[in-house]
Amino acid sequence: MKTDWYKNAVVYQIYPFSFLDSNNDGWGDIEGIISKLDYIRDLGVTAIWFSPLYKSPDYDYGYDISDYRDIDEKFGTMKDFDRLLEECHKRDLKVIMDMVINHTSTEHPWFKEALSSKDSPYRDYYLIRKGKTVNDKLLPPTNWQSSFTGSAWERIGDTDEFYLHLFCKEQADLNWENPKVREEVIDILNFWLKKGVDGFRFDVFNMFSKVHPFEDDLSGNFQKGTPFYVDGPRMHEFLKELNEKALGLYDSYTVGESYRPSEEDAYNYVRKENKELDTIFNFAHLESDNIAGMKFFWKPFDLLQFKKGFFGPQKTYFKEGWNTLVLENHDCPRCVNRFSIDTKHYRYEAATFLATVTFLGFGTPYIYMGQEIGMINAPFRNIDEMKDPVSHFIFDLMKSYHMPKKLAFSFIKYGARDHARVPMQWDDSVNAGFNKGHEPWQCMNPAYKQINVKKDLESERSVYRYYQKLLKTRKENDAFIYGETKEYDHENRRIIAYSREYEGSRYFVVGNFSKKETGYEVPEEFRNGEIVLNNYDGLKKEGNKVVLHPYQSVVLKV
Ligand code: GLC
Repeated sequence: MKTDWYKNAVVYQIYPFSFLDSNNDGWGDIEGIISKLDYIRDLGVTAIWFSPLYKSPDYDYGYDISDYRDIDEKFGTMKDFDRLLEECHKRDLKVIMDMVINHTSTEHPWFKEALSSKDSPYRDYYLIRKGKTVNDKLLPPTNWQSSFTGSAWERIGDTDEFYLHLFCKEQADLNWENPKVREEVIDILNFWLKKGVDGFRFDVFNMFSKVHPFEDDLSGNFQKGTPFYVDGPRMHEFLKELNEKALGLYDSYTVGESYRPSEEDAYNYVRKENKELDTIFNFAHLESDNIAGMKFFWKPFDLLQFKKGFFGPQKTYFKEGWNTLVLENHDCPRCVNRFSIDTKHYRYEAATFLATVTFLGFGTPYIYMGQEIGMINAPFRNIDEMKDPVSHFIFDLMKSYHMPKKLAFSFIKYGARDHARVPMQWDDSVNAGFNKGHEPWQCMNPAYKQINVKKDLESERSVYRYYQKLLKTRKENDAFIYGETKEYDHENRRIIAYSREYEGSRYFVVGNFSKKETGYEVPEEFRNGEIVLNNYDGLKKEGNKVVLHPYQSVVLKV
C-alpha cells in the first residue's frame, strides 16, 4: 500500500565519493556514511538520497552503471549496504536510491554483449544506427548533440554503425522501445524494493522515450536533438508501466530528475491521478543566474525569473500532485556563491536566508550535503584540479573557439559541478576530517579551516542549528506542508514574499534577496504577526514597513 510519507519528508542528499572516507583510501565509503547517520538525523531530515553506489567505471562518477545489483568496491560491499539500510531505518530515515536507467555504462555486460555479435539480442537494448555517407565521408546518423558537448553518436570500431549516448560516450542510451529493456528495469527496481529501500531518484528520466525514426534536428535548437529526446511520445506510458509493475507495489516514492520539461508534461508526470511519478525536480529557478540552464554561461541574477521558476510549480501542482524544493545538488555550484550573493560578507545570512525562503514553500525539501553548514565553492586554480569530465569538455570546447584560456576557465569556475564534489568538511584537521590524510580523489576546499561541521556547531551563528530550527518549524506546522502558497509582490526586485495557509493557521515568509537594507510593507493582515523565525536578532520597523538587513528572512504567524 502506498502512503504519502514523502509529503512530510525532508531529504538529505549524499554524494558518496565525498562524504567520509573511513578506510583512508581517498574515496568516501558506506562505513563513513554509517558513522554520520546521527548527525544527519539530528538535523531534522527524514530521508537520504544516495547518489549512485553501484559498480561503475566512473567515467561520469557513478552515473555510468556497470552492475545495477552490486555495490562498487570503493564504497564497500552489499553487506555494508544492507547494514546501511538497517541503520537508516533504525533512525527512521528512509532510503532513496539513485537510478540511472536512461543509459548504462559501456562496460555493462549488456553493452559488451551487444557489440560482441551482429546477432546478439542485446543489440536491441541500445540505439544503434548506421551512419550517413556524405562525399565519401562517414557521418553520424543524425546531427544530435550530447548534453556533454559534441555528437551524441559514437562510432562502433571501424564499422559504419554508431550508438547513441546523450551524455559521455561511455554512457550508452538504452532502447526503451524494447519491452525486454523495460522488463530488466522493472526487475532492477523490484530487486531494490524487495531489499527494503523506500524510493528512487530517476536520473534524467524525461529522456527515456525518444521520437522514432531518428532524423536530423532542423529546429534551430541550441542543443540539437532535444525535440527528439526530451519528453518523448511514450514517456507517460513508460512511467505508468514502472508504477504498475514495481513502484506502485510498494510504499515507495520516486522523484524524477527532469531536463527542461514542458510545463504540460511536467504537470502530467506528477499528477497523482496519472500514477507516474510522485515528484520531479524543477530547476527553472536555478536558471536565474545562467543562460538557459547552461551553468557555465552566467548572467546577472534575475530575481523575477527565480521567483517565477520557484512559485510556478507550487501553484500548478497544488492539490494535483507534489513538488520538490531544491537549491543544490551534486551538479550545481554552492548556492551561497550564486544569485549575485555577497558570500564574503554574508555567508551565514545568505545560507540561512536561502534555506528559509526555499524550504518553507510547498514541496519536499532537498538538502545537499554541506549545504547545512553553508559550504562555499572551491577556489580551483586550474582545470587540472577539476575531476568532472564535463568541466573538461566545456573547457576544450571553449578553447576550440579560440577563447582565451583564462576567460574560458573563469566560466568553468562559475558553474562547475566540481564545487559540490569536493570532500565534506567535518573539522579543521588534515583533509577536513574526510579521512586520515590519504590524498582525496578530488582536492579539498582550503576554506575547510574556517568552514567545517565542528566549527559551525560551536559557533554562535551556526547554519546547522538554524536549519534545525527551520526544519522543526516546518515539521510542527502543517501549513508548511499542506498549505497553499500565495506569492506577494512578484515585481519587487529585492524581496521574495509568500504566505502559507492551512486550516486557519497562516504564515508569512519574507526575505531580502539583496545586500542592501530594504524596506518592505508587510501586508496588513500579517503586520502584527508573531515572529517564529528570524536569521537576525530583532526586526527593524519604520511605520508600516519592516526594514530588512542584507539577506534577512523572517517568518510571521497570525
Ligand atoms: C544527471 C546527473 C548527472 C549526470 C547525468 C548523466 O543529470 O545528475 O550527474 O552526469 O545525469 O547521467
